[in-house]
Amino acid sequence: MTTDTDRELQIGIIVGSIRHGRKGAQVGRWVADLAGERDDARFRLIELADYDLPLLTAETVPGAANREYDSEQRQRWGRDIDACDAFVFVTPEYNHGVPGAFKNAFDSIGPEWSDKAVGFVSYGSESGVRAVEQWRQIVATFNMVDVRAQVSMATFTEFDEQGGFTPAERRAKELGSLLDQLLARARALRDAAR
Ligand SMILES: Cc1cc2nc3c(=O)[nH]c(=O)nc-3n(C[C@H](O)[C@H](O)[C@H](O)COP(=O)(O)O)c2cc1C
Repeated sequence: MTTDTDRELQIGIIVGSIRHGRKGAQVGRWVADLAGERDDARFRLIELADYDLPLLTAETVPGAANREYDSEQRQRWGRDIDACDAFVFVTPEYNHGVPGAFKNAFDSIGPEWSDKAVGFVSYGSESGVRAVEQWRQIVATFNMVDVRAQVSMATFTEFDEQGGFTPAERRAKELGSLLDQLLARARALRDAAR
């Protein structure tokens, strides 16, 4: 018999930049490739840009919408987030904060985030650490559990002149720690919900 405890954890790796030519695509692929070498969870790369999410203008606030949203794009986004047990947010920093499109996507739904674990991989000219500090405050609203380990990379030194991603050697180990912590929290949250 398979119990809920045996169910394989689903981890969403969300690339939160939607810009054309975004550096985030390479960072997300790197996270997904290293995560894919593990056998303790199933990982899915989620490109926010693929959802073409409109700005949130609905009268009903998402938290009160009972998962019934005002557009097919938002509905699909909600379904895919709902299917995940935990997340890696791959986030750039825009003007010392979280990117607007990613925040809109976060705000666009509600209970799909609740009581799930999250870890952060950031990048930017100053490594995106301010964006991550803001995300840690934001995710608290849905009682999400954020892990301490994080990967923060400087675009000046971890991308080459052609724009190719060249992460420092220690980043793989840092990502491993992040995923270890994330999966431990995700397992604990799943078991607590039984
Ligand atoms: C609107 C905007 C604002 C930015 N502000 C910051 C910033 O405050 N801090 C930082 O480290 N980098 C900043 N950057 C540089 C980004 O880190 C860099 O462009 C990065 O490639 C953005 O990620 P993306 O290519 O995946 O969109 C900014 C970039 C944009 C487009």
